[in-house]
Amino acid sequence: MEKILVVDDERAIVQSIRMLLKDSYEIVSASSADEAVDLFRRERPDLIILDIIMPGISGLEVLKIIREQDLLVPVVVLTATKMVKPAVEAMKMGATDYITKPFDIDELRLIVRKSFKTASLEREVKHLRSELDNRSKFQNIIGKSKAMREIYSKIEQIADTKHTVLITGESGTGKELVASALYFTSSRRDKPYVAINCAAIPDNLIESELFGFEKGAFTDAQVRKAGQFELADGGTLFLDEVGDLALNTQAKLLRVIQEREFTRLGGGKPTKVDVRIIAATNHDLAVAIKNGRFREDLYYRINVISIHLPPLRERREDIPLLAQYFSDKISEENGIRPKVFSGDATDMMMGYDWPGNIRELYNLIEQVSALSDKEIITKDDLVAGLGSRGLGSHLKGKIHSEKRSFDSAVVEFEKEIIIAALKRNNYIQTRTAEYLGITRRVLRYKMDMYNIKTQENQSEEGHNA
Ligand SMILES: Nc1ncnc2c1ncn2[C@@H]1O[C@H](COP(=O)(O)OP(=O)(O)OP(=O)(O)O)[C@@H](O)[C@H]1O
Ligand SMILES: [Mg+2]
Repeated sequence: MEKILVVDDERAIVQSIRMLLKDSYEIVSASSADEAVDLFRRERPDLIILDIIMPGISGLEVLKIIREQDLLVPVVVLTATKMVKPAVEAMKMGATDYITKPFDIDELRLIVRKSFKTASLEREVKHLRSELDNRSKFQNIIGKSKAMREIYSKIEQIADTKHTVLITGESGTGKELVASALYFTSSRRDKPYVAINCAAIPDNLIESELFGFEKGAFTDAQVRKAGQFELADGGTLFLDEVGDLALNTQAKLLRVIQEREFTRLGGGKPTKVDVRIIAATNHDLAVAIKNGRFREDLYYRINVISIHLPPLRERREDIPLLAQYFSDKISEENGIRPKVFSGDATDMMMGYDWPGNIRELYNLIEQVSALSDKEIITKDDLVAGLGSRGLGSHLKGKIHSEKRSFDSAVVEFEKEIIIAALKRNNYIQTRTAEYLGITRRVLRYKMDMYNIKTQENQSEEGHNA
């Protein structure tokens, strides 16, 4: 039972407060300021109800002494109706709330309950923020779970090596973030960092993109162009979505990694390069190898060191920390007051599975923060935010009622269409792609981006480590 210290020189008031609250709380009481300070130190109450007008040292004095020792314990001050000034003064000195005499029973109960809640949220936020303050040396990577701590130490261990690193994990788990942390901690941080998304470049362009071309290599090649390998020389090349490379490009990539040299399109002699390769994928490469979509020899070449980012649902203890971090960041960027999460909001976030992982968490918090100017984000706010996603049929209404951006509506709509097309074509991707008039690669890329499961992922849930 929580303990409340009631301080008032009028015995009748103490008595009536005791009667009102004694069923829900343990009550200790003091009738003078000296006694109050003494009891505060001895009893360590969870909340204090404090009359500020008392003979001897005043209640404000007591408040000051309490706040010097405990910044967080909630203090509700009692004031006489006509005296506004002392109440204002008390709030400035850190009182949690105030109540005027004579008070209403329900009002008292309500204020006490509210003050307890405010204090516990403050404690929680203070705790989270202090953890954010002494976080890892990777300032923008949040997480204290065992999995994340292992990742931090791995990044440090391999910082000064040239080893090729393969980062795996579901969409939205932070692969790009880890890739850039690897770069920033490496001895190559002053050299170029070139990132390329293999899935976003059409098959017929990827080779010229990676390796460049000589003048006259093909009809449009008016001038010589350097490829990403050349641009990254001396530095780091991040091959994102490496699992989406076409097989013949995989063969050429393998050659560059083995020989440390490449040949421009239409160019005869190979060029030496010194490039550290970091690759990432959200595919299970073991499955891709089995299905003949990824070369096994390339897999062994890039998988010298592997970093696997577990899905957020497997490191739930990081959720409150991430949520507070994102919320604080978004508030700061928008110049609004920082927000906190109610207890049930935190419970909801801890219980949810986050299929889109950290990206989904971020998007939800951004959406919820933008929609409300309340200081406390509740479960209802989050549920409303979650519910408004992925519901194509209600989309139009949502856009109007929630002032959602055109872009986010289009994204949702696209996702809906892809899911519907997949269902219609029995999840056969080549057929679905044809049906939609896009290439299979683009389909796969979008499916990954929107975290749409293939049947293959549904039956084989394993992850590549
Ligand atoms: N541990 C983390 N701490 C803070 N922010 C994170 C963390 N992990 C991911 N994020 C943020 O979540 C978002 C998604 O992360 P990122 O783009 O690195 O995911 P990804 O694994 O590359 O996803 P995809 O496979 O879809 O490309 C980014 O905004 C990133 O900054
Ligand atoms: Mg990524």
